[in-house]
Amino acid sequence: MQYLYKYKLSITKMPHINSIISIDDLTVEYIKDIMYNSFQIKKNRMQYGKCNKVVGHLFFEPSTRTKCSFQAATYKIGGNVINYDDKYSSSKKGETIEDTIRTMEQYCDALVIRHPEKGMIKKCSSIVNIPVINAGDGDGEHPTQALLDLFTIMESYNQSFSIALCGDLKYSRTVHSLIKLLDKIYNDIEFIFVSCPELDLDEEYKSCLTNKYSSITDIQEIIETVDIIYMTRIQKERISEEDIKIRNVKINNELLKKTKHTSILMHPLPRNDEITSDCDKNHRSKYFDQMNNGVYVRMALLSNCFKESIDL
Ligand code: NCD
Repeated sequence: MQYLYKYKLSITKMPHINSIISIDDLTVEYIKDIMYNSFQIKKNRMQYGKCNKVVGHLFFEPSTRTKCSFQAATYKIGGNVINYDDKYSSSKKGETIEDTIRTMEQYCDALVIRHPEKGMIKKCSSIVNIPVINAGDGDGEHPTQALLDLFTIMESYNQSFSIALCGDLKYSRTVHSLIKLLDKIYNDIEFIFVSCPELDLDEEYKSCLTNKYSSITDIQEIIETVDIIYMTRIQKERISEEDIKIRNVKINNELLKKTKHTSILMHPLPRNDEITSDCDKNHRSKYFDQMNNGVYVRMALLSNCFKESIDL
């Protein structure tokens, strides 16, 4: 009984203060700080000491960019990575995720976790005493992707832009985090949600917005006026067999050329067929810049986690 009481207590404690679980938890001041530090890192104006920390990576879902850029960022600030591989771990002997997380806590100074279940990263963060970073929880959130998206947007726009979020708005965690983040930072922007009705953004996200928004189904309606186009793939792993047949919103270079010269095209990647490769050389395409910026932003985030950054 006493053991159970202790166990219960330990899973209901607050996440570590430097954890990044949802955009909801981040202050505007923190976000501006991360953006400023990311710019300084990108311009080589900020130096990092040997942070000597170990970051545990636990990816229970596939990842290329998030996992590799977190690894690169950790090494670049002088830290080391332990890669937990679920396929060859004691989970195959019946170990629970709770015990796995507690085990990794013994070896690491922070954990970066991706999991297919919405809310699982928050749960993990409440059972350890080290910072936990949400690298994507099912169809929930992906806050560090949103921060690197914001950084990429800030390289082109200061304020007053319109952004068309296109594709699978129902299940794309990058969209969920990005709209929360933009709505928190700006008060003069316009969201346009472009999707088929089945994949429209849930009301729970729309109803929280303070900026203007509208929903349409055809990207052609806004192609000549919009500032930012943010494409997403259909999250096939999260929808039913039946819904897989749904046609995504698509863009090719012909269509892209109809946008303003200053417009930008973004995508968190991976893409399927929603952006054709003939768009890649168009100056408006920023998806490769997003990948590159991911390293700077994640360096700034991890450094903040360990408070290791050295001011100019
Ligand atoms: C996204 C993700 O995993 O949510 N990718 C990423 O992290 N860059 C987008 C996706 O999988 O569609």
